[in-house]
Amino acid sequence: MLNDSVLSAPCVSSVNESRLNIAVMISGGGTNLQALIDAVKTGAIQGARIALVISSKQDAYGMTRAAENGIAAVSIGKAEFPDAAEREAAISGALQRAKIDIIVLAGYMSILPPGLIREYEWRIINIHPSLIPKHCGMGFYGKRVHTAVLAAGDRESGATVHYVDEEVDSGQIIIQERVPVMDGDDADSLAARVLEAEHRILVAAVNKVIAAFAGS
Ligand code: GRF
Repeated sequence: MLNDSVLSAPCVSSVNESRLNIAVMISGGGTNLQALIDAVKTGAIQGARIALVISSKQDAYGMTRAAENGIAAVSIGKAEFPDAAEREAAISGALQRAKIDIIVLAGYMSILPPGLIREYEWRIINIHPSLIPKHCGMGFYGKRVHTAVLAAGDRESGATVHYVDEEVDSGQIIIQERVPVMDGDDADSLAARVLEAEHRILVAAVNKVIAAFAGS
């Protein structure tokens, strides 16, 4: 039975407008972006919206995913801005106009300029398809990571989300998930198993960063 005080309460919006704005930076298929889009839709991520997608490649399928979900998306790469300083200014401007609070690198294949990393210190996270500190750093990306895991004879691999600092894949780790390396695995089968873990821990990592914001 609702008491009178509840019945007389003013109507409140079910949408919390004080949500954080997330930018997702991509270069490819965008399945990690899709995992975040789906998590916001289902409520697995609350307190934030994906406000912007920035791609380093005009033809990244992640741009299509953004368009299909009504998310502002812009391609800012060497094709559009050959000059590095102009490219950095374009990225910074897009982030500022969208009032971005958190940046998620999800398959973003360019190195962020140090000025941007400092501007968004402790607010940029990256997903990497190995158990950092194994098989990471310059040159370890995509299928190369899984090939290295198999060549090393590792019996397990996994995924890591970490804060981004000015080195490559070296920032404080937020979350990791281990997956087994199965007999008969090749780079593609291992990549597929790790990618499923990526989608899970990226959502969990974003929730941890949102919580850290709330606590700050
Ligand atoms: C993922 O494997 C991620 O770990 C790596 O690039 C890939 C991006 O995949 N950084 P997608 O574009 O999110 O599908």
